[in-house]
Amino acid sequence: MNNRFLQALGAQNSGRPPVWLMRQAGRYMPEYQALRKGRSFLDMCRTPEIAVEVTKLPLRLLDVDAAILFADILLVADALGAALRFEEGKGPIFERPIRNVNDVNALPDVQAAEALGYVGEAVGLLRQEIDVPLIGFAGAPFTVASYMVEGGSSRELKTTRQWMRREPEAFEMLLEKVSDLTIDYLRMQVDAGAQALQLFDTWACYLDYAQFTRYSLHYMQRVLDGLRECQVPVILFCKGASVWADELAATGAQGLSLDWQCSLPKLRRQLPAPLVLQGNLDPYLLYAPHDVIRAQTERLLQEMAGDPAFVVNLGHGILPDMSVDAVRVLVDTVKGASYAHNL
Ligand code: CP3
Repeated sequence: MNNRFLQALGAQNSGRPPVWLMRQAGRYMPEYQALRKGRSFLDMCRTPEIAVEVTKLPLRLLDVDAAILFADILLVADALGAALRFEEGKGPIFERPIRNVNDVNALPDVQAAEALGYVGEAVGLLRQEIDVPLIGFAGAPFTVASYMVEGGSSRELKTTRQWMRREPEAFEMLLEKVSDLTIDYLRMQVDAGAQALQLFDTWACYLDYAQFTRYSLHYMQRVLDGLRECQVPVILFCKGASVWADELAATGAQGLSLDWQCSLPKLRRQLPAPLVLQGNLDPYLLYAPHDVIRAQTERLLQEMAGDPAFVVNLGHGILPDMSVDAVRVLVDTVKGASYAHNL
C-alpha cells in the first residue's frame, strides 16, 4: 500500500512529495477515449464498473500516488432535478435552470444513497482493487449552484451574479439545499471507503470579498462542519483564491489546493502549520518541451524540499489536447526526486 499521500495529508511525509493531477483520467488519454466510445460521459459516471476502470487508468499509465474517483461535480445538481446533459463542444447543459424562488422551492428532497448510490458503489469497488489512497470529491455549494443558475457553462457567471444581487435570500436557499445534499453525498463516499476528500469551488473567483465570505466560504464551512465526525482529511480547491488563503485556512480544512498565481513557499511562511499545500504548476506547462517541464517541476520540488505537508499537483485540470508523454514527464520528475529523503 502506497501511503505517501495520506502521510502528507497528516503532515508526516519524510520522503519525496506525493503527486496526483486534477483530471488525471480524461480525454487526453487514448485509453479513456476507447472506453468513452459509444457511451455518454454521464453513462460512464453512472456505471460503477466503468467508473472504476477509468479511475484506475492513471494508476496504471502514470503510476501516480493517489486515485481520484471518476465522477463529476455536476452529478449533485442533476440529482436535485436539474436534468443534466453534456453536449459535444458545449459542455454541460441543464434542462431546468434555477431562476427564481419558486424554482428553488420546487427542488426535491433527495437522499444521496438513492440518487447517487452508484458513486458509493464505485468507491466500494475501487477500495478493493487499488493500492493507493482514494480521493472522493464534490463541488463546493457555490460553484454547483452557479451552474444550476446559469444552466451550463458561462463566461463570467452573469446570470448568477445578477440574481444573487437581486434575490440574495433565494440564492442562499439554493446554496443550503446544495450544501445539505453535498454533505450527505460526501458522507456516503467516506462510508464507502474514500480516504480523503476534495471540494472544488472553481468559480468563487468571480465574487467580491463580501460575497466570497457570504456565498462561498460560509457554505464550504457548513460542508466541513457536516463532515467533522467522519474524521477524513479535506482539501479545498478554490481557483484564483490564494488571495483568500487565510480565510480558507481558518475553516479547519486539512489542505488547500492552489493555482499557479501564488508562491507556495511564501504561503507556507504565511499560513499556520500543519496546513497541507497542494499544487501548483501551471497546466500550460504541459504544452512545453519536456526539458522545460522537467526544469519547472524540479524548481517547485526544490522550493518545497523537505516539506512534510506538500502534495504536487497542477493548479487546475489537465486539458484534452495535452499529451500523455508530457504528463508522464511531470510525474516521473517528482518520483525521481531523491534529495528530500530524510530531511
Ligand atoms: O479529476 C479527475 O480526474 C476526476 C474526475 C473529475 C471530472 N470532473 C471528470 C470530467 C473531476 C474532479 C471533475 C470536476 C469538475 N467538473 C469541476 C471542478 C474542477 C474544475 O475543473 O474546475 C467542474 C467545474 C466540472 C464541470 C464539468 N465537467 C465541465 C465544465 C465539463 C465539460 C468540460 C469540457 O471541456 O467539455 C465536464 C466534463 C468532464 N468531467 C469530463 C471529465 C473527464 C469530460 C467528459 C467527456 O468525456 O466528454
